Amino acid sequence: MSDSKWRVATRTDAEAIAEIYNQGIDDRVATFEVDHRSADDILSWFDQDRPVVIVERDGDVAGYAAAFVYRDRLCYSGVGEFSVYVSRNYRGRGIGRVALDGLIAHCRERGFWKLLSRIFPENEASLALCREAGFRVVGTYERHGKLDGDWRDVIIVEKLIDDTSGDTLGPNR
Ligand SMILES: CC(C)(COP(=O)(O)OP(=O)(O)OC[C@H]1O[C@@H](n2cnc3c(N)ncnc32)[C@H](O)[C@@H]1OP(=O)(O)O)[C@@H](O)C(=O)NCCC(=O)NCCS
Repeated sequence: MSDSKWRVATRTDAEAIAEIYNQGIDDRVATFEVDHRSADDILSWFDQDRPVVIVERDGDVAGYAAAFVYRDRLCYSGVGEFSVYVSRNYRGRGIGRVALDGLIAHCRERGFWKLLSRIFPENEASLALCREAGFRVVGTYERHGKLDGDWRDVIIVEKLIDDTSGDTLGPNR
């Protein structure tokens, strides 16, 4: 079990977040994105007040989780689409779980009632992480997009996170 703690990210974390995200882009397991992000790109997340948490280990930013607007319509204002990325050096050591639990707690405090994500079926680590964190599989979008010219399916997962959902996880558990 990890002894790492999460905290809300600040603008000074932008460079580390970009580096970790770019590893995930290069690995081709997590996202349809293929273009690297700069620290300035990540800074725009803070301008938009997106929920972002990071996990530190041994003085490094080892991973992060972030939520994005699911849809612009007001009725969906409490639904966040999230992603979680862990530095290659730290994967499989509990960092992703701490980051995701931290994001859930942070989003709950900010009034979100649901988090969801779309995961490639081949991404066993991400599916396992979400399952362990209490997400349920909603279903599969077939041929949802192309990555490097190949059609890819995505599995949708969701979790109700508001106070009425029966989940009592606190921050830094
Ligand atoms: C997916 C990812 C975030 C998981 O983070 P992590 O720190 O490596 O995962 P953790 O060590 O916290 O493990 C969480 C759970 O997933 C399981 N798991 C982790 N890696 C796994 C793997 N490769 N295969 C199967 N299960 C795995 C763990 O066993 C653990 O379950 P447990 O609590 O029952 O032991 C990380 O591997 C990563 O950044 N991958 C590349 C980017 C990515 O795919 N992001 C997700 C986009 S949706």
